[in-house]
Amino acid sequence: MGKITNQNTVLHEPVVYRKDREEMNQHKSVIIWFTGLSGSGKSTLAYALEDVLHKNNIRTFVLDGDNIRRGLCKDLGFSKSDRIENIRRIGEVSKLMMEAGSIVLAAFISPFKQDRKIARDLVSKGDFIEVFCDTSIDICESRDVKGLYKKARSGEIPEFTGISSPYENPDAPELSLDTGAFSVDDCLKEMLSYISKKRIIKP
Ligand code: ADX
Repeated sequence: MGKITNQNTVLHEPVVYRKDREEMNQHKSVIIWFTGLSGSGKSTLAYALEDVLHKNNIRTFVLDGDNIRRGLCKDLGFSKSDRIENIRRIGEVSKLMMEAGSIVLAAFISPFKQDRKIARDLVSKGDFIEVFCDTSIDICESRDVKGLYKKARSGEIPEFTGISSPYENPDAPELSLDTGAFSVDDCLKEMLSYISKKRIIKP
């Protein structure tokens, strides 16, 4: 691959701005970033929240690790550098979709604090809502919905988060949800109450 350069690009000012889209949509756009171990409920919560919001005429889109890794990120594996690149791309895509007026629901393990900070710092304060799916490895492993923990324990899957690759807990997530102790409905209530309180959607 040749040297990558953006030297000869000129930023084009939009005609239609994010605030115009938000006004048309009658709600704000934002990134809701779910982080946590595999099986901690990230995708379940993202799709459940999308369902409720969509039924209330709110523009949403779910970006989910297992799906995005079949397309945009299909060239990436699970080494540290590949995970960094995975989250970098998702951060940029999330920002674009937010600017397009959607409430973006990004559900990725995103195990490294630094990468989540990079994604957060792409947007303004308040535009990035980190939801920590705070579920113990024991619960995730006992659920083992995809059968991946079993394979990770046997060594069939290397560098598996929580087993042979680290997960760094967030220090100050906007929301921390113990999906082992609370139902999907309870978690939904917490999330909806947060985004109404922040006036992202109308109460
Ligand atoms: S991340 O670490 O780069 O953020 P991402 O969320 O995209 O991960 O993908 C995680 C999903 O990939 C898991 O839910 C699981 O289904 C699958 N997976 C396959 N191999 C691994 C692995 N080594 N570690 C974690 N998840 C894996």
